[in-house]
Amino acid sequence: MTDWKCAGAIALALSASPIAVLGQTAKIGTPAVTRGAAVYAAQKCSKCHGLDGKGNQKQALDSVGSKITAEEIRLWIVDPVDMAKKTEPPRKTIMKAYANLPKEDLAALVAFLAAKTKK
Ligand code: HEC
Repeated sequence: MTDWKCAGAIALALSASPIAVLGQTAKIGTPAVTRGAAVYAAQKCSKCHGLDGKGNQKQALDSVGSKITAEEIRLWIVDPVDMAKKTEPPRKTIMKAYANLPKEDLAALVAFLAAKTKK
């Protein structure tokens, strides 16, 4: 895949996301992304996930934004058991669902992770 195509796929994924509907794009440094970083820390996602050199590198999320869409990131957060079933081959997950996050916190967390596109 060329870089151009890759960038296009990401742009498409982001424009189809609920974040874009709210008028916030997943750009580094936007308020949603800053808030998302705080939510990530408060929810202790780093107990199981690695990001920016901290936490559990076995489940690193540094390039999650280029691997899966914002919608898929959202679904992992609210219903990981269902998402694990849909992975190929299907898995059992130890990740718990964060189904009760306030809407704005969830959107910010998704924006924060969707912007993680390290190669
Ligand atoms: C108890 C450990 C645990 C915690 C806490 C946890 N996760 Fe996960 N998460 C996992 C595991 C394990 C997977 C991989 C799926 C699998 O094999 O079960 C995963 C998968 C994911 C994925 C999909 C990654 C990919 O590459 O497809 C995302 C996104 C994600 N988690 C986000 C989060 C966020 C955001 C939080 C905090 C709100 C969080 N996780 C908290 C264990 C955890």
